[in-house]
Amino acid sequence: MEVESKKLKNILIVHGPNLNLLGLREPEIYGAVTLEDINRNLSRLTENTVTQLHFYQSNSESELINRIQQAMSDGTHFIIINPAAYTHTSVAMRDALAAVKLPFIEVHLSNIYSREAFRHHSYFSDLAIGVISGLGALGYELALQYAMAFRID
Ligand code: DQA
Repeated sequence: MEVESKKLKNILIVHGPNLNLLGLREPEIYGAVTLEDINRNLSRLTENTVTQLHFYQSNSESELINRIQQAMSDGTHFIIINPAAYTHTSVAMRDALAAVKLPFIEVHLSNIYSREAFRHHSYFSDLAIGVISGLGALGYELALQYAMAFRID
């Protein structure tokens, strides 16, 4: 029988709108790290493992929905998603994640609960396995660590 830890695991990392501007965008809130830095660092953490990462960033709600839907049939086992501003507005992205039925972790660089009231509600959190908010780029690493340890059937 195949040992669980040897199974190839595909993890999709989805970055929502404006996260392409990390490093330039409100650094006092989001830090100096760029999206490329975050992705590169995550890739480094999967070196010499059976994990394959697939990165996707879009500023468009429909493109994000299409990418999430694709995960239903492309061998994705787990999703790590920062829906960014769509966290607080997108029933459609929530429905896409509910439809694909893949386990996911919701990540936010900033602590959405210590910011404006409109950021306190997420359309994703009750569907997520867990939520990491306010730990900066480290939040993605912790989510990845969990995803790599997550049992897939
Ligand atoms: C964010 C928080 C959201 O409220 C905001 O719209 C973002 C980024 C974060 O990572 O802290 O764009 O998801």
